[in-house]
Amino acid sequence: MRHKALPPELFSGHRAKLYEHLKPGSIVVLNANDIMPTNADGTMPFVQQTDLFHLSGINQEETILVLFPDFPEEGLREVLFLRETNEEIAIWEGHKYTKEEARHASGIQNVKWLGEFDRVFHQLMTQAQHVYLNTNDHLRAKVEVETRDSRFIKYCKDVYPLHEYERLNPLMHQLRAVKDDAEVDMLATACNITKHGFERVLGFVKPGVKEYEIEAEYLHEFVRRGSTGFAYTPIIASGANACVLHYIDNDQVCQEGDVLLMDVGAKYGPYNADMTRSIPVSGRFTDRQKAVYNAVLRVQREAMKLLQPGTTIQDYHKEVGKIMTHELIGLGLIDQTDVKNAPKGMPAYKKYFMHGTSHHLGLDVHDYGNWYAPMQVGNVFTVEPGIYILEEGLGIRLENDVVITNNGINDLMGHIPIEVEAIEDLMNR
Ligand code: GLY
Ligand code: MN
Ligand code: MN
Repeated sequence: MRHKALPPELFSGHRAKLYEHLKPGSIVVLNANDIMPTNADGTMPFVQQTDLFHLSGINQEETILVLFPDFPEEGLREVLFLRETNEEIAIWEGHKYTKEEARHASGIQNVKWLGEFDRVFHQLMTQAQHVYLNTNDHLRAKVEVETRDSRFIKYCKDVYPLHEYERLNPLMHQLRAVKDDAEVDMLATACNITKHGFERVLGFVKPGVKEYEIEAEYLHEFVRRGSTGFAYTPIIASGANACVLHYIDNDQVCQEGDVLLMDVGAKYGPYNADMTRSIPVSGRFTDRQKAVYNAVLRVQREAMKLLQPGTTIQDYHKEVGKIMTHELIGLGLIDQTDVKNAPKGMPAYKKYFMHGTSHHLGLDVHDYGNWYAPMQVGNVFTVEPGIYILEEGLGIRLENDVVITNNGINDLMGHIPIEVEAIEDLMNR
């Protein structure tokens, strides 16, 4: 394992919080993700189902977690089922969890091999009234393949049609949105690794370098610092490429006079950083670039002040929209007439700032959290305003990751250079 081990108390704490929300007589079942096929005998790298990880700390395929907190026999209230390893698996795929290792990682005492699942599950189901199963209810999820969880739902409803089925996922959204100190610590490390990548790149970028060479610099710095790599496919976009919001080709040459937008974050263990910085390829911003840059920076700083317990994400985005409108008028990009004539639901600022300002961040990059719930202490959000002016070949976004605390926000990227002067100084050293 490249990252520092997470304490089993983190996961037993997560389970205890879940139990507070279950009806009496409830069983909960979570399945690992599949290893997704590509073509021929190819597969994608395994990515654990993040709810299962949140409740168990187990990062291995085929795992099943079964929880039944008020089952009469104490030893069956939490059971973890693992793929049983053998000599052949050890030779081809390497080490898999032993039962003892899984106990140690998860804090779950009863660890069984998968071969015992049917018998034990049936025993538990004879006493269960409510069955909490997992679906993917993320607001923007588009799932076309059948997951292990969805196959299990079909199986379970077929074999046990008269139990009462419940949705686990809304509870997971509620619980995962509030991060423990140990999780914030992991996110802070991911942010810190990202900082080192950015500082390396500040000394590397100059006219003539290719976007993918910059990508490689980040990856080198991330991996040598214990990251498994990128939290998401990075956007390394020079000039007008920065106006393509999901640009990932990263195959162009950086030109003198362009601004380079880099949306890149390190993954540390299972936790993700999500940073964007925009820097001048030549090491100095033009006056116009500086004006746009500082407008984005002011919006980011004002937005951070609005992230407070009790605020709803909707109200927050409306307020940020007003701040952005003010800045775009100041830059001469829109005027009061545009603001007045804008159709309902499509405010004028959206011509230059098309995406949201913040999303939850954690085990997933666009992490869990109920979009309609008020913000809470322990929420981790990105703050990522941007201005994209295609006609000027200029796109600037600045993105930091922050935690809502009892005394304002804790900016986990507050130590990553962002002021114009700091960026120019570091690039010209
Ligand atoms: N890097 C993905 C995002 O900023 O949301
Ligand atoms: Mn980002
Ligand atoms: Mn983001």
